[in-house]
Amino acid sequence: MDVFEKLVKDGGPIGQHMDRAHGYFTFPKLEGELAPRMKFRGKEMIVWSLNNYLGLVNHPEVRKADTEAAAKYGMGNPMGARMMSGNTSMHEALEKVISEFVSREDTMLLNFGYQGIMSCIDALVNRRDVIVYDAESHACIVDGVRLHMGNRFAFKHNDIEDCEKQLKRAVELADKNGGGVLLITEGVFGMDGEQGILKEICALKKKYEFRIFIDDAHGFGYMGPTGAGADEAQGCQKDIDLYFSTFVKSMGSIGAFVSGPKNVLKYLRYNTRSQIFAKSLPLIIVEGMLKRMEMVKTMPELREKLWHNVNRIQTGLKERGFDIGNTNSPVTPIYMKGDVPEATAMVMDLRENYHIFCSIVVYPVIPKGDIIYRIIPTAAHSDADIDETLDAFEATKKKLDAGEYKVEHIPDMAEVS
Ligand SMILES: Cc1ncc(COP(=O)(O)O)c(C=O)c1O
Repeated sequence: MDVFEKLVKDGGPIGQHMDRAHGYFTFPKLEGELAPRMKFRGKEMIVWSLNNYLGLVNHPEVRKADTEAAAKYGMGNPMGARMMSGNTSMHEALEKVISEFVSREDTMLLNFGYQGIMSCIDALVNRRDVIVYDAESHACIVDGVRLHMGNRFAFKHNDIEDCEKQLKRAVELADKNGGGVLLITEGVFGMDGEQGILKEICALKKKYEFRIFIDDAHGFGYMGPTGAGADEAQGCQKDIDLYFSTFVKSMGSIGAFVSGPKNVLKYLRYNTRSQIFAKSLPLIIVEGMLKRMEMVKTMPELREKLWHNVNRIQTGLKERGFDIGNTNSPVTPIYMKGDVPEATAMVMDLRENYHIFCSIVVYPVIPKGDIIYRIIPTAAHSDADIDETLDAFEATKKKLDAGEYKVEHIPDMAEVS
C-alpha cells in the first residue's frame, strides 16, 4: 500500500475531524495583541488558553527589551551550535542567572523544550539504565523515553504506591544489569493542574538509589515563595537532581533550560545531540530572557496577582458546583460528561454567544464520554474577565446537562478557503 494514500484516508486520531474543525476547533487564529481579550473570527473574546501565567508576554517592559534586542542583534546572531561558533558571554550570563534562581550549580540553555528534554533523556541513560516515569507525562518525556534502548516502567499518575512498586522493580533490574535508575516526572501537570508528588518521591531516596529529573514547564516562574518552581513550593529542591523548564509559558518567549550538578551539566553540554547539532538560541531571546528573569525576581506582585485570579476563578467554579478535580496550581480543568460532537457544540456556543475562548480536551486525549474545559488564569486577567466567564460557564453547563448540545456530528465550522 502507498504510505501517503493510507495517511490521507485516515487523517489520524485528531486529524479525522479536520474537514469540519480546521480553523475553528483546531488551528484557530487569535488576532490582536496577546492579552486576555483578543479577536477570533472578528469577535472579541475573553481568552483562557494562553500559558502566560505572569502576564509577561506582552508586558511593556518585556516588549521594549525584545524590540531593543532585535534592533541590536538581528535574528541570526550568533551563528552555529554553541560548541562550534554559537557561544556568547550572554548565553553564559543567562545560565548563571537561572542557576542562582533555581538554586542549582549549573544550567544549560536548550533551543526548544520538547526536543531539548528528549535529547537530555537520551544523553543521560544507556541500555543498562532503567527509566521510571509518570504514565501521564507530557509527550516530550514519552518521546524521550522512547529513545531509550533499555528498560522503562511507567507508574500510575501521581500514585506513590505504584511509583514505589515500579522503582523497586527498576532498581533490582538495574542492579542486575550494572546500570542506574532515572525517575522522570513533572512539577505541575499541564492537563489536570496537579503538582507532581515530588516530596513523596524524594522521600523514597532513603530506601532506593535513583536520580530524579523533573519537567517543570508549568511551574517555573511562579510556584514557590520566590517563583523558582514546584520543587521550591514543596521544599525539595535539594533532592531533585535535574530541573527542566521551557521559556514558552511563564516567560512568554521560546527556548528552555536544564539545571543541576556542575559535573552532570558539563557532560550534557558535550553529549546532548539536539544542542550539539543545532544552532544556538538567538541573542534576541537570550537578552529578552535576562529582562524577564530580572522582572520575575523583583516583581512579586505578578505572582500575587496570578494567585488572586486563580483563587477567584477556582472558588467561583466550585461555588457553582463545577468539578475541577484535584488541581493545586493555576491550571484549572473543568470536568464534564458528553461526547465529542456535544463538546464541540458547547464550545461553539461559548464562543459565538458568550465570547469566551477556552480550550477543550476530548477523546482520544482523554477517555470517551469525558470533556475537559481547560482554563489558564493569568496575572493579566481582571476580576471582570473572571466574573463574566463564570456566568458563561454556568449558562452553558445548564444547557449541556439539559441535552441542548446533542448533535450528531461536530458542527461544520471549518474555514472556507
Ligand atoms: C510539560 C511540558 N514540557 C515541555 C513542553 C515543550 O516545550 P517547548 O514548547 O519549549 O518545546 C511543553 C509545552 O510547551 C510542556 O507543556
